[in-house]
Amino acid sequence: MSDAVIAPAPPVTLVIFGATGDLTRRLLVPTILNMTQGGLVSDSLQILGVGLEPGDDEMLRGKLEAFLATSNIKANYSDQTWQQLRSRIFYLQGDFTQDAIYTQIANRLAEQADRNAAYYLAVPPLFFGDIVDKLADHGLLTEADGFRRLVIEKPFGTDLASAKALNARILNRVPETQVYRVDHFLGKETVQNIMTARFANMMIESLWSNNFIDHVQITAAELVDVGTRGKFYDATGALRDMVPNHLFQLLAMVAMEPPNSFDAEAIRDEKGKVLKALRIYSAEEAEQNAARGSYTAGVSNDTAIPGYTELPDVARDSATETFVALKLFVDTWRWAGVPFYLRTGKAMTARDTEIVVTFRQVPFAQFKGKGPQRRLTPNRLIIQVQPDEGLHIEISIKSPGLSVDTVPVSLDFNYADFFDIGKLTGYESLLYDLFVGDQTLFQRADSIEAGWAAVQPFLDLWSKETKRPDPYPAGSMGPQSADMLIERDERKWHQPDVAHRVKARVS
Ligand code: BG6
Repeated sequence: MSDAVIAPAPPVTLVIFGATGDLTRRLLVPTILNMTQGGLVSDSLQILGVGLEPGDDEMLRGKLEAFLATSNIKANYSDQTWQQLRSRIFYLQGDFTQDAIYTQIANRLAEQADRNAAYYLAVPPLFFGDIVDKLADHGLLTEADGFRRLVIEKPFGTDLASAKALNARILNRVPETQVYRVDHFLGKETVQNIMTARFANMMIESLWSNNFIDHVQITAAELVDVGTRGKFYDATGALRDMVPNHLFQLLAMVAMEPPNSFDAEAIRDEKGKVLKALRIYSAEEAEQNAARGSYTAGVSNDTAIPGYTELPDVARDSATETFVALKLFVDTWRWAGVPFYLRTGKAMTARDTEIVVTFRQVPFAQFKGKGPQRRLTPNRLIIQVQPDEGLHIEISIKSPGLSVDTVPVSLDFNYADFFDIGKLTGYESLLYDLFVGDQTLFQRADSIEAGWAAVQPFLDLWSKETKRPDPYPAGSMGPQSADMLIERDERKWHQPDVAHRVKARVS
């Protein structure tokens, strides 16, 4: 990591609810290892795992060790670092819904010289409210002798009403300043770079409005199919899984006004304003501005993929969408009239998360030439979030020769050419900010609710829909209806660079 000049975060006990689960071993522990290796955490950081599974400290340490030895995780640490951390991992077995476990946690924290604690809820959302209530009942959220922070993973609610109810329940027991709602997209280097690309570059920011921008496309295409996640996914669908959270975070970064400082609240205010300015559609408008799909059997990345409704745990007549495309508007002066086209789906042609900003045509081109050359390819700025992280600017140049012909070319910046970001999990900046108390990369209650408010008309529409989502073969870029959504505006979806972006079927 290139963070040598950054001071280590203060000492903390990271209490993980759901310590024997996937998130802990795949992300949290590898992240702490990377941070320990990079000197970003205190030498006295402790991990206190809490779980239902019977066992002691050695059980959890052994399980993590076995996983780290065999898995292909993005961590870069020495054995000495692991040994250092290993001895600071502890385990408490207990039921989150009962008082006993909280008394034990309180006793453990009381034994620490430093009483800072961050509670990480790596558990099914069903438990969020109960855990917060119990933590509060036991005084574990009171900041008398150190900080007490609460980390909540997505999904945060399943619609506007449930998100509001969950926020109300949590904020009844703990102030917003102690709540860290995770959207892991905000941990991605390229997502954080959107603000820098805009606000550190006059060349980009001075063109950043409806005066010069024709439309914006945000795509999060996944190669992976639903696979064994049918139970979760069939109750969720592509819209809830990806749009009000990940895609809206990207949209907010693209559309926000420059903050008056880089303080967390200033940035979160500006992002919140964008989400609150998303046009709320009537049922009729929602129908006109959305397409949804469900993948059928096909071949993706040379692998045969069964259709979504053939999966175990998925109803044969499931109406859940595995793909969604939306056309949205941000109703502000800056963005008036600029459509934002969003799409995301499983089992698509390529893994490709990108933001494509298409600029307007030059008003008139005095170039000789035939037919299409009179209509120049518009400039595009492509922020390649993943994979092959980078930034590309497409411009027109004169092609060499006697005639004045123009050709589009791309000015390319690829992270991999200059930096090594391959060994990070993407959670390093999130956990560091959690430990130092910076909420910039975490979602505030009002933004979460604004996001749900904007997608609620689609949820309402589809809950009454009798027609199944439109089929698309696995390995394609979605149903025809998604193409029609954009093509009726005489625009086209940007095609991913398949040759480069079809990567191993691991996410
Ligand atoms: C998760 C969704 O939040 O994000 C998954 O639940 C999705 O369905 C994942 O695959 C995508 O994240 P990433 O970082 O792999 O693009």
